[in-house]
Amino acid sequence: MKSITLVGSVIFALLSVPVLASPIQGQGDISYRNDVFPILHDYCLNCHEPGGKGYEKSGLNMSTYQSLMKGTKFGSVIKPGDSFTSIIIQVIEGRVHESIKMPFGMNGGLAKDKIEILKKWVDQGAKNN
Ligand code: HEC
Repeated sequence: MKSITLVGSVIFALLSVPVLASPIQGQGDISYRNDVFPILHDYCLNCHEPGGKGYEKSGLNMSTYQSLMKGTKFGSVIKPGDSFTSIIIQVIEGRVHESIKMPFGMNGGLAKDKIEILKKWVDQGAKNN
């Protein structure tokens, strides 16, 4: 039992280091309203609101925070705190499949700085802030 506790605390210590040393800390919070929604509005809403073809095909409506968090007809596309496994980031980075890279059909894809904003927002908990 003792050794299990020890292993547990070693793992905890190892996991805590990158979190504490995270470069996100100290850079201020990303705001859904001021930083994230304007990007979704400019690059996604066209297709991802009722009547748009992204919405019709996937069920993902990005017009409000609530509908965004609801996700597609298959479920959520955002895992708060984890941009790497969040589907919304995976499709923007083209990690799922090139054929469903978002914004759909956009040459070159979303600019790096905009992707970073979305990633940070998800990593900071995807808050309605
Ligand atoms: C030109 C239209 C269009 C634009 C712009 C667009 N999408 Fe999409 N999106 C689609 C279509 C169509 C699908 C369904 C793809 C499929 O399943 O074949 C889709 C599906 C998705 C999905 C679901 C993927 C899955 O797992 O099935 C996500 C997440 C997504 N889009 C995110 C975004 C984001 C984020 C943006 C803006 C950065 C965006 N889309 C911009 C058309 C668009």
